[in-house]
Amino acid sequence: MTDMLGKMRRTHNCRELGRDDAGREVVLMGWVQRRRDHGGVIFVDMRDREGITQVVFNPDLNKEVHEKAHAIRSEFVIGITGKVEKRPEGMTNPNLKTGEIEVFATELKILNPANTPPFLIEDTVDVSENVRLKYRHIDLRRPNIQKNLILRHKAAASVRQYLNNLGFIDIETPVLTKSTPEGARDYLVPSRVNPGMFYALPQSPQLFKQLLMISGFDRYYQIVRCFRDEDLRADRQPEFTQIDLEMSFVGEEDVMRISEGMINTLFKEVLDKNIEIPFERLSYAEAIDRFGLDKPDLRFGLELKDISDIVKTSGFKVFANVVEKGGIVKVLNAKGCFEFSRKEIDDLTEFAAVYKAKGLAWVKVKEDGWQSPIAKFFTEDEKGKLAERIGMEKGDLVFFVADESKIANDALGHLRNHLAGKLKLIDETEFRFLWVTQFPMMEYDENEKRYQAMHHPFTAPLEDDYALLEKSPLAVRSRAYDLVLNGSEIGGGSIRIHQKELQEKVFEALGMTPESYNEKFGFLLSALDSGAPPHGGIAFGFDRLVMMLCGGSSIRDVIAFPKTQKAACLLTNAPSETSKSQLDELCLRIKAVTS
Ligand code: AMO
Ligand code: AMP
Repeated sequence: MTDMLGKMRRTHNCRELGRDDAGREVVLMGWVQRRRDHGGVIFVDMRDREGITQVVFNPDLNKEVHEKAHAIRSEFVIGITGKVEKRPEGMTNPNLKTGEIEVFATELKILNPANTPPFLIEDTVDVSENVRLKYRHIDLRRPNIQKNLILRHKAAASVRQYLNNLGFIDIETPVLTKSTPEGARDYLVPSRVNPGMFYALPQSPQLFKQLLMISGFDRYYQIVRCFRDEDLRADRQPEFTQIDLEMSFVGEEDVMRISEGMINTLFKEVLDKNIEIPFERLSYAEAIDRFGLDKPDLRFGLELKDISDIVKTSGFKVFANVVEKGGIVKVLNAKGCFEFSRKEIDDLTEFAAVYKAKGLAWVKVKEDGWQSPIAKFFTEDEKGKLAERIGMEKGDLVFFVADESKIANDALGHLRNHLAGKLKLIDETEFRFLWVTQFPMMEYDENEKRYQAMHHPFTAPLEDDYALLEKSPLAVRSRAYDLVLNGSEIGGGSIRIHQKELQEKVFEALGMTPESYNEKFGFLLSALDSGAPPHGGIAFGFDRLVMMLCGGSSIRDVIAFPKTQKAACLLTNAPSETSKSQLDELCLRIKAVTS
């Protein structure tokens, strides 16, 4: 067999060489970033994972090697032997780690030619993401993505080290398993040896980590892949990674303390940034009241105010009727924005409509009083009260939404984020962490006409609220907590139910019959009856966390082989059709889809 490399063996990577190496003979291997022919002398930027080194092919030094260098093109894989020289005065490149030297080649091996790449291997490529994903193996050569994935690796190493030091044990859990209800659809896998039966891919290892606590493993962790068939967004992937952990004999404080230490260590080790701990905390109720959302971005103000009590008897029937029917009227004061145009206000109204707001009333506070389509409906007394509650001053623009509380909060909460972007109120270098606690146990699902667990059905209710479980389930608060960073949910967990009777009661409150919960979760109920310690834990969205560490806005940029919005891998063309014989083996038949 011929060995392409012959005796040639790499001595350095493409970032290592500097002034002190001048005079050394070295061997470099890598890709051709760029070839410049300067009439006689050929310069080649060689690239590898670490960086770039300039290689010079000079006909005076070696005619034959110089001749060969004419053939090389971008993305060819080459190996060179050469001598390191200091660059002449004035020719150094301060933007390059190796900018003070160049290597004069005395030997060149073209290890593999390459087709012209579909785009340049540079950070600012002007091609659609779909093209980048189709050629992801080439896209991954771009320095920014390489940096992201290396940072991801460092982050995982830091987390492991931190948890290992605290006695956490890494235990793997099954991927072919049974449905775990985290609120999304399951990915199903047919079982060949059990025709007509399916495994579900785990939405998280939730029940297995609880079982591990019952088995006595106490501190467990896993950096683990989870699968959820849900509508995708910039911060959602159908398969994503969690830092999943669980502890026994703990309460909320213990889980939060460990989590804060982990994040603090991570930011220190990966970004050399000091994050202040403990993190701020808000109850769910307070977060919604002040910011409209359960994951508020605290990097700016623009807090919401409830004015339902003031307007409920007003002459503006839209507002009065909403309050009469049990809804609320909330406002957002866009300080100093009274010069927004009609078009800008119309755009914001459209924005609010996406979140189901039926309108977006507004008031501009001018020199001579209110300018607003709804000003005429309010008495001077009401205007005075509103001005005081909302803190209205000359120059302000106040937005109102009247609706059921979920819609009013949601629309104004999102409008608040949107306005902060539009008004450039956000300091992009800031990291604002927040714990949101005491989520409601359940919410009512209008589509399915039933109660649904807000976190998951294994979350413990607050002891004070046990009595409400049967009569007013929506009022029951849970021992769940979310970790929010700059308005993005990066983690969530809870103290769990560890007693069978309480777990059954919660299943029943969620509208499940004993038959259905025994069928789905009989194994858990039996385990809870076998000596289950009090336990709790949390899972962090690792991709989201890494995205924020990288300062990015799409988790696809921190995942080596991500999927598109339509859950497709453009590189391998997954998902794809399968053969008839494979379907037969699985006892499956495909029904024609009419759309
Ligand atoms: P939860 O469902 O809140 O909790 O998930 C934990 C964290 O995972 C991240 N995440 C996602 N990231 C990318 N793409 C997705 N599709 C996606 N879905 C969720 C979020 C989220 O905060 N078993 C519980 C945890 C527990 O109770 O211990 C769970 O999975 O950042
Ligand atoms: P109308 O009387 O329907 O013309 O509405 C007057 C103003 O109130 C318009 O600016 C509407 O956008 C606004 N509006 C209507 N319904 C609502 C609502 N539910 N919440 C907030 N503003 C509303």
